[in-house]
Amino acid sequence: MVFRQLLDPETSTWTYLVGDERTRDAALIDGVREQVERDLELAAQLDLKLRFAIETHIHADHVTSAWIVKERTGARIVGTRASGATGADVVVEDGGTVQVGSLVLEARSTPGHTDSCTTWVLASEGLAFTGDAVLVRGCGRTDFQQGDARRLYRSVHERIFTLPDDTLLYPGHDYRGRTVTTVREERAFNPRLGGGRSEQDFVAIMSALKLDPPKRIDVAVPANLTFGRIAS
Ligand code: FE2
Repeated sequence: MVFRQLLDPETSTWTYLVGDERTRDAALIDGVREQVERDLELAAQLDLKLRFAIETHIHADHVTSAWIVKERTGARIVGTRASGATGADVVVEDGGTVQVGSLVLEARSTPGHTDSCTTWVLASEGLAFTGDAVLVRGCGRTDFQQGDARRLYRSVHERIFTLPDDTLLYPGHDYRGRTVTTVREERAFNPRLGGGRSEQDFVAIMSALKLDPPKRIDVAVPANLTFGRIAS
């Protein structure tokens, strides 16, 4: 597998480039519009053909590069029905898959941060892209965009923490420079979701957070509902 983890420092967003070593087919997961030139250049230098632009959810803090990636490379935009977004070339249901060369990414619906959150599992490589459902020692907020703490708790416990213990979890963000975690670590040490915390504990923790709205939500969410399409 060809694998690169890329940071947008402005929003602390992780973008992932995943490719098949032999066929050179690749997917870009959670691309950020401001970083699209960097990402396309890297894909070209690595001799990768971008086949898919994949999102873990409708982001509130940045605009996706998916539409530009499609325009520039012919990659197909992957969406989920739950997102309500328009313009996807491939719509994947819970349990559906996207095949990138010989790599199979399985969509696991993990709502709670938003109702469209999807964890993409690459079982052959023992890893998963969790978006904002599970972050390293944290999780996405649940106070807007159909956020629901009970749903998130169940999604994480039933659909992510049930993956093999050594599964590498690659998050959608990190604000302290951490790149990756594992199921085992988060079950033990996640201060909100792990260490035996109950659903009630989690709901109480999440409702006590008093967070400011993301600065760019009014721009980002409408733009992401068309995968960042730029009107011509
Ligand atoms: Fe998010």
